[in-house]
Amino acid sequence: MKLKHVVSATQFDTDTLRKLFNTASKIKNGNYPKKALNGKIMAAIFYEPSTRTRLSFEAAMQRLGGQVISTENASQFSSASKGETLEDTVRIISSYADVIVLRHFSPGASDIASKFSSVPVINAGDGNGEHPTQALLDLFTIFGKFSKNGSLPPKFTVAMVGDLTNGRTIHSLSYLLSLYPKVKIIFVSPKALTAPNSLTSHLREKNIDFLETEDFKYALKVADVVYQTRIQKERFKGKKDYKKYFGSFILDNKTISLMKRNAAIMHPLPRVNEINPEIDDDKRSIYFEQAQNGLYIRMALLLFLFDKA
Ligand code: CP
Repeated sequence: MKLKHVVSATQFDTDTLRKLFNTASKIKNGNYPKKALNGKIMAAIFYEPSTRTRLSFEAAMQRLGGQVISTENASQFSSASKGETLEDTVRIISSYADVIVLRHFSPGASDIASKFSSVPVINAGDGNGEHPTQALLDLFTIFGKFSKNGSLPPKFTVAMVGDLTNGRTIHSLSYLLSLYPKVKIIFVSPKALTAPNSLTSHLREKNIDFLETEDFKYALKVADVVYQTRIQKERFKGKKDYKKYFGSFILDNKTISLMKRNAAIMHPLPRVNEINPEIDDDKRSIYFEQAQNGLYIRMALLLFLFDKA
């Protein structure tokens, strides 16, 4: 499959994922073309804060010999602050750069941007919509730990925990998992923060076995992967609502004692209080390796987009 823009995890198929993961594995082992993107420029345009996504994309581009131009607080430091539209901004930047990595507060922003850009647009998170490259690194991490001969074990169970309404990484990872029919998903959230209908309808269409529950302990007992997320404070209108859900589900020494011995604990990060640092040294905690994999998968994705993989 040839991708131009990357705006949604639904664009991927298993064959493309297999190729991407093979390339990312080679990169992880230090085997990559260090000058492949010589002369190419990436524009990193971030309207929302980021540590991992922006810096790993910038590092990925530079490790492959490319260069980066960026604005880390585009709402304030770009001409958006003077009223310029996203459409005009993207039209202009695409005449300066060879690829645009865009994080925006509005769901669908990358899709809109892709229609006005002459170069590939990569969605680096669009409000409470999607975060497809996070899902790529999440699934790459899951495959690295659990896959045998390129597929996941039968009845492989992933528990997605937290603010499932606003958690864009949950949405994108669920879309990727829906490509693997034997996977089971358990969504654990307060009733007010369940996964969006658009996602659950998609899973029904794909005949994916999924369950929506508030029973955290049950999910911990049966899951192969516990994918923990934070309550997304920035998406709540009032502090009171946020406080109601803050601390709903905590992973600590006591709760992880319920988990399988070979399970994995993942988190897109940043964490707030939902993973106690006391479990960081547990062998099931792989969230820091997961974040590091972001560099390799983004290098692989850039090589793909520039036909250099
Ligand atoms: N996981 C993730 O998107 O982290 P950042 O917000 O730091 O980029």
